[in-house]
Amino acid sequence: MSTQDVATQSSELYERALKVLPGGVSRNTLLRDPHPAYADQASGCHIVDLEGKSRIDFANNMASLVHGHADPDIVRAVSAQLERGTAYTMATEIEVRYAEHLCSRIESFDKMRFVNSGTEAVMVGMKAARAWTGRPKIAKVEGAYHGGYDYVEVSQAPSPATWGNRDRPRNVPLVHGTPQSALSDVVILPFNDPERAIKILDEHCEDLACVLLDLMPHRVGLQLADPEFVHAIRDWTVRHGALLVLDEVVTFRCEHGGLQARYDIHPDLTALGKMIGGGFPIGAIGGRSEVMDVLNPRAKRVLYPHSGTFSANPISTTAGLIALEKFDAEAIKRLNTLTKRLLLGIEDAIRKTGARACVSGGGSMIRVHIKEHVPHNYREVFASPEEQYRLKVLLDHLFDEGFLMINTCAACLSTPMTEVEVDALISAFVTGFEKITETA
Ligand SMILES: Cc1ncc(COP(=O)(O)O)c(C=O)c1O
Repeated sequence: MSTQDVATQSSELYERALKVLPGGVSRNTLLRDPHPAYADQASGCHIVDLEGKSRIDFANNMASLVHGHADPDIVRAVSAQLERGTAYTMATEIEVRYAEHLCSRIESFDKMRFVNSGTEAVMVGMKAARAWTGRPKIAKVEGAYHGGYDYVEVSQAPSPATWGNRDRPRNVPLVHGTPQSALSDVVILPFNDPERAIKILDEHCEDLACVLLDLMPHRVGLQLADPEFVHAIRDWTVRHGALLVLDEVVTFRCEHGGLQARYDIHPDLTALGKMIGGGFPIGAIGGRSEVMDVLNPRAKRVLYPHSGTFSANPISTTAGLIALEKFDAEAIKRLNTLTKRLLLGIEDAIRKTGARACVSGGGSMIRVHIKEHVPHNYREVFASPEEQYRLKVLLDHLFDEGFLMINTCAACLSTPMTEVEVDALISAFVTGFEKITETA
């Protein structure tokens, strides 16, 4: 088949998709011009599209694949489990073994429950906080992404026209038709601004069930939270009987015990997802025994009845446990060191080319911004139309050069990667930065 024929095959597929999927996609983040890239197959850190073009995969299904694609150990174990059934109306040994692994790995986990996605994990965390405190409101950081659920979607993507005063950011709905009641039960905090954040929290101390926090929120710039900010929030929750719920759906990959291990804090609850499924859909919520016991169906008074048809299914738990056993402290350290090499290499490329760009990140993730200085909060991350245009030029260049990135120009690494793939990406950034400097 000629390249021309195959290219036609992709665009024809998109034509068909447009008839049955809104916008022709199931996930907005996969949309590209003129059509999404269609995957044919993937192995390790390489992904091949329908046209037969192979790329190095730095997107890793939005940070969910720590061992890349089709890891042989995961494939073997999941294939064996497939023969034995995929979902039962019975409990399994594997869910207990995996829960034991996570509870021994994360210091703040006494008990936990599996769910089916990061969105669901955060949702269960919020509802558990409400059930525990008997209070209705949650607080979250402006611009932070915590999945597709009414309350956490509030102020996920406000604009300068809607976000209001810095001292009291507005509650901006993401979805048209979001009930006013959902908006009113969310309190928006500026990231890394303890003084303003505490002032805002003080106005709601009677009503707040929890503060929901990501320690390195991707959409807020992929910058580590300042310890001062985190501790101020933690102290506030303790003083006012609210819970601290951490969203480690992404950041769990940064440290063996989660990013929380670096901050010396013990959140009441933590939401997990993405990498803990070893490539399959999953989520988990865990934390202090007393709080997790709001979910206990054997309690005298059951505060939060909870179930889920595919929760703790043996495919996701089998894949997840193997993925995490292989992602031990040594593997994490190697990947983080490799990521540091990428970050320093990109900084060097920016210096050499004089591009107006910068790079942030931590653990095994980085994000490139078309900004002079690393943004500190969502308002600083917000890209002008011209910055958006140059980011698109850069992303298209990297794509054409054989690199699949997350659509914000973020990259996350996987264990099959070595210096070879990292150095190749740095070289592609050099030519990409030259290109955007020319178009400036
Ligand atoms: C920090 C964070 N929390 C929650 C979610 C939601 O996870 P899921 O897409 O599995 O529902 C995401 C997804 O990108 C995320 O990045």
